Amino acid sequence: MTVPDAVVKEIEVLRSEIEHHNYLYHSLDTPEITDREFDLLFRRLAELEAQHPQLVTPESPTRRVGSEPLSSFAQVLHRLPMLSLDNAFNAEDLRDFDHRIKTRLDSEVAPTYTCEPKIDGVAVSILYQEGRLVQAATRGDGTSGEDITANVRTIDTIPLRLRGKGYPATLEVRGEIYISKSGFRKMNERAAREGDKLFVNPRNAAAGSLRQLDSRLTAKRPLTMYCYSVGLVAGGDLPARHGEILESLKEWGFRINPLVETVTGIEKCVAYYKRMLATRDQLPYEIDGVVIKVDAIGLQNRLGLLTRTPRWAIAHKFPPEEATTRVEDVEFQVGRTGAITPVARLKPVFVGGVTIRNATLHNMDEITRLGLMLGDTVVIQRAGDVIPKVVRVLEEKRVPDAETIQLPDSCPACGSDVVIASGEVVARCTGGMYCSAQRKENIRHFAARMAMDIDGLGEKLVYQLVDEKLIQTSADLYKLKAQDIIPLDRMAPKSAHNLIAALERSKQTTLPRFIYSLGISDVGESTARSLARHYDDLDTIMAADEESLQEVPDVGPVVARRIAVFFRQAHNREIIESLLQSGITWPVGEAGRGPPQSLEGQTFVLTGSLSVLSRNEAKAKLQFLGARVSGSVSGKTAYVVAGAAAGSKLKKAQELGVEILSEDALLALLAEHGIGKD
Ligand code: IVH
Repeated sequence: MTVPDAVVKEIEVLRSEIEHHNYLYHSLDTPEITDREFDLLFRRLAELEAQHPQLVTPESPTRRVGSEPLSSFAQVLHRLPMLSLDNAFNAEDLRDFDHRIKTRLDSEVAPTYTCEPKIDGVAVSILYQEGRLVQAATRGDGTSGEDITANVRTIDTIPLRLRGKGYPATLEVRGEIYISKSGFRKMNERAAREGDKLFVNPRNAAAGSLRQLDSRLTAKRPLTMYCYSVGLVAGGDLPARHGEILESLKEWGFRINPLVETVTGIEKCVAYYKRMLATRDQLPYEIDGVVIKVDAIGLQNRLGLLTRTPRWAIAHKFPPEEATTRVEDVEFQVGRTGAITPVARLKPVFVGGVTIRNATLHNMDEITRLGLMLGDTVVIQRAGDVIPKVVRVLEEKRVPDAETIQLPDSCPACGSDVVIASGEVVARCTGGMYCSAQRKENIRHFAARMAMDIDGLGEKLVYQLVDEKLIQTSADLYKLKAQDIIPLDRMAPKSAHNLIAALERSKQTTLPRFIYSLGISDVGESTARSLARHYDDLDTIMAADEESLQEVPDVGPVVARRIAVFFRQAHNREIIESLLQSGITWPVGEAGRGPPQSLEGQTFVLTGSLSVLSRNEAKAKLQFLGARVSGSVSGKTAYVVAGAAAGSKLKKAQELGVEILSEDALLALLAEHGIGKD
C-alpha cells in the first residue's frame, strides 16, 4: 500500500516537533507548550505510525519504550579508552595540579579551566554516525564496556538523531547517566509499595536500571544524562576549547550542566569548589565533587595522559557528608564467623539524597569509645557507597531515659553463648554451624563472585533457602532441584532453572577459589592462593599441622591455628567430602592454582581512605595477583594508590615521580586482571 505524501510529511513534521519540544523541555528547561499539547502531538504520531508501520524508524520518538529482552550484553571495545580522574582532596592539591601544569607547559600564564560538577552516576559513551545514535556502552574497565544501546535508546533526554548541523560524521559523546534525587525517592516509594528491594542510592539505582536486559524496564526508570566530553571524533571538526565543545553538544541536542563555568586561574577553581560544596544539598541530583579541566584542547594534547588519567584534569571530591539523628535501637548482627556486630537503627535521616536508617558500630569497644547510649543524638557520616558510621555523640542532647547498650549474653539468632576471647575486641556466637545466621552468611560467602561464583544466588535467596530448611550447609546447594526452588518468593521456573545451571557451572573451579569459599576465618583470597601454591592439593592442606602451615607465605601462627582447627572439625570435613562428591573439581598442577601472578614483582603502597574497597580488601586483591604491598614509598614503588585525605606518602610519591592511582584507577587495573569489586 502506498502512503500518501501528506502522511509521510506529517509524520516527519511531528517527529521534528516532538524532538524540538523534548529538547526545549529537557535540555534547555524552557518548554513552549503544555504537557497536554505535547501528548497530543505524540499520540497523533503514534496513531499514524500504527496505521503505517512501514514508516516507523528506529529513531522515532515513539520507539523509546524499549524492546525485546537480551540474553546478555555484548562487549564493546572503546576505541579511545574511557579515562578516570586523579583526585585532589584540598585546595593545596588543586594548586599543586595548577603548578604541575604550568611547569609542564613551561609557562607562568594562568591557564583557563572549565569547572564542572562531578555527577555521581554512571559513565557512558554514545556513538553517533551521520547524526544517528548507533551504539552506547558502559565504561566497564575503561578499555571495554557493555553494549547498552537498547537501554540508552529509551532515555528521552538523549537524542536518537542529532539536531542542527555541523556535527562530525563520527561523534562519540561521553557523559554521566544519573537519576535525580526525587526520581530516586519515587522509585523507592514504588519499590516499597510493591515489596521489591530498595535501592541504596541514586547511583546504584541508575546503574541497576542500565544493567537491565529488558529495556522495557529501563524505559520506566527516570534516567537522564549530562554530557561532559567527547571520545572518538572523525569526519568533521570540533571547536578548540572544551567549554565551546560543550556548547556545540548542547546545540546538537544534549543536556549540558548549566553550572559548568569557564574561569581563569586556579583560585577561581578553588572558589567554584567552595560554592558547589555549599549548594550541593540544594541541587536536584547528587554530586560528589567538582571536575577541573584545562579548557584549551591544544594544551590538553600537549599535557597528555598518564596510564589511566589525563594530566589536564582533576577531580576535587567532597568530604564525607554528615547529619544529626537519633539512635532508636541497637541490633546485634551475626556474621559468617560468628562475629557479632552492633548496628545502630537510626531515626531515618536524609543525607545528600539518600535516606540513612542504619549505621555500623563495629564492636563494643567502639560503643565505649563513642560513649554511646540508646536514645542518643549522634552525628553520622556517609562517604560514597560505604556503610554510614557514627562519628560522635552529642552528649548535650542526651535524654534522661537514655539506656546503656549491653552486649547480649546469647546469640540473637540461635541462643548460643556469646563470648569475647581474651585479647580480642570482637564478640562471637559460639553456635558454629548450629547457628542459622552463621550458616546463612557462610553460604553467601561460598556463592560469592571471588569464591564459587554462583550467579543469581544472592542474600535474599540464601536466607529463604535456609529459613525454609531446603539447605543446611553449602554442600546442600548441589542437591537442590528446580522444583524445590520454584515455590520460593519471586522465583519462576526460568530463574530456578538458571540457578541450577549456575550451580552446575560453578562445579568447575580452581583450588584457591575452593579453599577461599570454605570461609575459614582469616583465610582471604590471597591466603587461599598461597595455600594452593604451597601444597598443590587439598588433601595435603587438610592434613597439614600448624608448624607446616606457618611455612606458607603470609600465614602466621594465628592463621595457621585457625586453618588447622577448621580442618580438624568433623562437620567441616563432612561438608568438604559432600561438596567433592557432588562433582566439584579443579585442574591439578599449575593450571589449578588460579590466575597468573600477573602483578608479580610490582610493589604497591596504599594510602588515604578508599571508599569502594577497604584498604585490607585492596591489599588482599593485589597480593592475590602476586603484587607486594608495602607501607612506605621508595624508588622501588611501582604505584601509590591514593584514597581520600592521602598525606605524606602521596607527597613523597609525587616527589619521586611514582605513578599515582586513584581508587577508580586501581579498580580498573584489578578489573583488567580479572578481579572484581567483591
Ligand atoms: S571527565 C578524562 N567530567 O567521574 C575525563 N567526569 O573518575 C574523564 N564524572 O568516570 C571524565 N562528572 O564517570 C568528567 N563533569 C565530569 C564528570 C565526570 C562525573 C565521572 C565520570 C568518570 C569519573 C572520573
